[in-house]
Amino acid sequence: MGAHKGCILWFTGLSGAGKSTLAEYLVTEFKKRDYKVELLDGDEIRTNLSKGLGFSKEDRDTNIRRIGWVARVLARNNVIAITAAISPYREIRNEIRTETEAEGRAAFVEVYAYAPLDALVERDVKGLYKKALAGEIKNFTGVSDPYEAPENAEVTAYTSTETIEESAARILQYLADQGIIAAA
Ligand code: ADX
Repeated sequence: MGAHKGCILWFTGLSGAGKSTLAEYLVTEFKKRDYKVELLDGDEIRTNLSKGLGFSKEDRDTNIRRIGWVARVLARNNVIAITAAISPYREIRNEIRTETEAEGRAAFVEVYAYAPLDALVERDVKGLYKKALAGEIKNFTGVSDPYEAPENAEVTAYTSTETIEESAARILQYLADQGIIAAA
């Protein structure tokens, strides 16, 4: 087993901003180093742990608190827990940060996957922005529902202007600087 500490690597950002892509890239990197890592991906969580939840503020908060709870349990057992859900509400993200830090067993590292909305609408990987803009999907984050960007994210990944490798390298550098993972 490689040398690392448990932590929560909490991705946040709009749909299509590259959270899952970056998270999956990091999982591969960590596995190469034989680190203990687990990915809690928003889309996947919604098919099991949060099956049945919708996209009201209440349901999103419930979803995020569940993901946060699992991530904390993993992190305090020395796993690198990576989460990749939109997690649009600052207060809930900060609640999980506070709980994690209060336990004192693992760091909470917030990563903001940022791309301008225009770029996401242009790319529209899942075709959801087109539907949201046409009013076919209600309460769509960034279009007809709020997204509260982090004010103090540990790392911001500029996913429309940086390559995945560049963003990932900055995240890995941050983790190494904090002593969470060994220097490359
Ligand atoms: S969160 O708000 O609770 O964090 P989560 O990351 O689990 O959201 O799910 C977001 C994904 O659900 C999006 O990437 C998209 O594929 C899909 N989705 C369906 N409806 C919506 C909606 N109204 N707002 C945002 N995403 C939606």
